[in-house]
Amino acid sequence: MRIVKPGVKHFLQFKDFTRDEFDYLFERTRWIKEQFKSYQQHRPLIDRTLVMIFEKASTRTRLSFEAGMQQLGGAAIYLNTRDSQLGRGEPVEDAAQVISRMSDLIMIRTFEQETVERLSAYSRVPVINGLTNEYHPCQIMADIYTYIEHRGPIQGKTVAWIGDSNNVCNTWLQAAEVLDFNVRVSTPPGYGVEPERAGLYGTDHFEQIDDPMAAATNADIVTTDVWTSMGFESENEERKRDFADWQVDADMMRVARHDALFLHCLPAHRGEEVTAEVLDGPQSVVWDEAENRLHVQKALMEYLVLGHMNS
Ligand code: CP
Ligand code: NVA
Repeated sequence: MRIVKPGVKHFLQFKDFTRDEFDYLFERTRWIKEQFKSYQQHRPLIDRTLVMIFEKASTRTRLSFEAGMQQLGGAAIYLNTRDSQLGRGEPVEDAAQVISRMSDLIMIRTFEQETVERLSAYSRVPVINGLTNEYHPCQIMADIYTYIEHRGPIQGKTVAWIGDSNNVCNTWLQAAEVLDFNVRVSTPPGYGVEPERAGLYGTDHFEQIDDPMAAATNADIVTTDVWTSMGFESENEERKRDFADWQVDADMMRVARHDALFLHCLPAHRGEEVTAEVLDGPQSVVWDEAENRLHVQKALMEYLVLGHMNS
């Protein structure tokens, strides 16, 4: 039995929203951020509760959702698999029915995308994907908002993704289709994009380029992520060898556009996927990017609970 409350909207992958919805959300983020920075209260979610389920570790995602919900006037409750019944075999479908009767919004960080889909199918309230093996849509909302803040619209721009074609890369690829920009992906052999797993409609908005320097040439954004994502730790040593030539360094930033930005979802490993010189250098906007998780997710939570707002 699928219990879908009519009109409940979820954010399980980037392509769940249209370009118009993202235009609204980015504009709303700007307003919410301005209000917050000028100490103006904005508390549309008083008495509303967010439940956050974590099956993997997190610093930024937990902080930004928890702080964000508090700032919007609501409460956030943290559950993990270690000390909830989720870790003792309670089906996600049962958990979804119970949690969604006691809350207004659910955020989940887990392994398989299928778990998020099953949770949302049995939830009466909106579900947000806080990272799966396949996608990390909240991260790319923050990344694109950060680019817009620094450089303006992303339409027609070129993003160079250097490294593993992981959950963050897949989400960049979906975003390119929804928002109309281009992604060049450079991975070591055997680690390339799987378009079906990435949930792509086609191949118009991305190119796989073997040589990472060629991928970065004239790019507007150069971005990367850890060589080993959570859940793949057993491959760590092999990956360190395979990815050694896919490091973003100052030479790579020099072939990008002169005003190119460097993005990284964090946590970063200086000396592996990026040098300290680039991560801590003048083109890096990674701290703004991390902060913007808070602001975009406040706009997202407000939108999912209350819909389109005018002020
Ligand atoms: N970027 C990101 O999602 O960070 P956390 O793993 O710390 O949440
Ligand atoms: N690709 C990384 C992102 C962490 C925020 C991971 O899944 O571990």
